[in-house]
Amino acid sequence: MTQYKVPVIGGDGIGPEIVREGQKVLDAAGEVFGFDIDWLEFPHGADHYLETGELVSDETIKELSGYKAIYLGALGDPRLAPGILEKGILLKLRFAFDEYINLRPIKLLDGVETPLKGKVAKDIDFVVVRENTEDFYIGIGGRAKKGQKNDLLEVQRDLYSAKFGLDIETDSEEIAYQIGMISKEGTKRVMEYSYDLAAKRNNHLSSVDKANVLSDIYGFWRETFEEVGKGYPSVETDFNYVDAVTMWFVKNPEFFDVVVTPNMFGDIITDLGAMIQGGLGLAPGGNINPTGTSMFEPIHGSAPKYKGMDRANPLATIWAGALLIETLGEKEAADTIVKAIEKNILDKKVNTVDMGGSAKCSEVGTDVARLVKKLGKS
Ligand code: IPM
Ligand code: MN
Repeated sequence: MTQYKVPVIGGDGIGPEIVREGQKVLDAAGEVFGFDIDWLEFPHGADHYLETGELVSDETIKELSGYKAIYLGALGDPRLAPGILEKGILLKLRFAFDEYINLRPIKLLDGVETPLKGKVAKDIDFVVVRENTEDFYIGIGGRAKKGQKNDLLEVQRDLYSAKFGLDIETDSEEIAYQIGMISKEGTKRVMEYSYDLAAKRNNHLSSVDKANVLSDIYGFWRETFEEVGKGYPSVETDFNYVDAVTMWFVKNPEFFDVVVTPNMFGDIITDLGAMIQGGLGLAPGGNINPTGTSMFEPIHGSAPKYKGMDRANPLATIWAGALLIETLGEKEAADTIVKAIEKNILDKKVNTVDMGGSAKCSEVGTDVARLVKKLGKS
């Protein structure tokens, strides 16, 4: 029996409930496919922060770095200002483990309704590879402060003054800035991952940028995309401006196979992607470092108003669990979990409220676990 150790961070709101169902399903898969998971629970999230003042300590990061895959519920709590937990825990971990791939499958399962008229499962089946460590997420920015000169703002000062007809002082609290930065290495590695993935799928890679306006940063992105592409002559490519890509996702989702995108645009277009695959309740994500520690989570948030009610949809988290177990090498178990999710939906018997049913979160987990055992044995 293969033994795995997997750290779990339930987090906030519905996080602990949905992740529990994911664990239930992975345990069931283990019974059928011959592995056993030792779950290591970590308390991080709002309660832990309010009690101890700790978001994630360096020691915790060091400890977590000893594992290949972390299972994460959701973070975010109305008692705290937006961004504290998201930046202090989620982004902190993504960056600490250099999880440079954010893999977000956009796949419409059989039996799921998409808001796109006339589209069926075979039309919506692509993967977004979101760069996950650079761009506007690097956290370099600032707001002018009274009495503090800021060189960067100084440079732009004449421009702002001319534009607004105001004599804006850079120490006047009238301006703010945020910097997006990408590096050659950082871009190359996400491109290589994406080309490799396209080569394993249908040999079609689409790149997203805004090189017509933000031409320094995304011109560089585009150049690197072309450069890396020289090593993959069999992969067909195209460029898409991010505004246009949102339109094509809706109009022609069948066009896409693998989509590679800078971090911030990736954040935006994957919520759109989640919607066309049936809603946030069905959208999983993996933060991946192919040679280090990865982290799997639903792409939705912590939905604090449903906390403790056992009514949230656990399917995105269960699906994220499938991505996790695949990373650990259990491909057959992963495929079976996705099939079990699909079967659960097609059966239309045990589904949560958002999917038109009346089942509890825990009942959905139990049903998918049952289906995993059934499908895995047949
Ligand atoms: C996501 C989320 C995060 C992001 C937030 C919570 C920091 O929206 O995973 O898409 O912006 O990446
Ligand atoms: Mn997001």
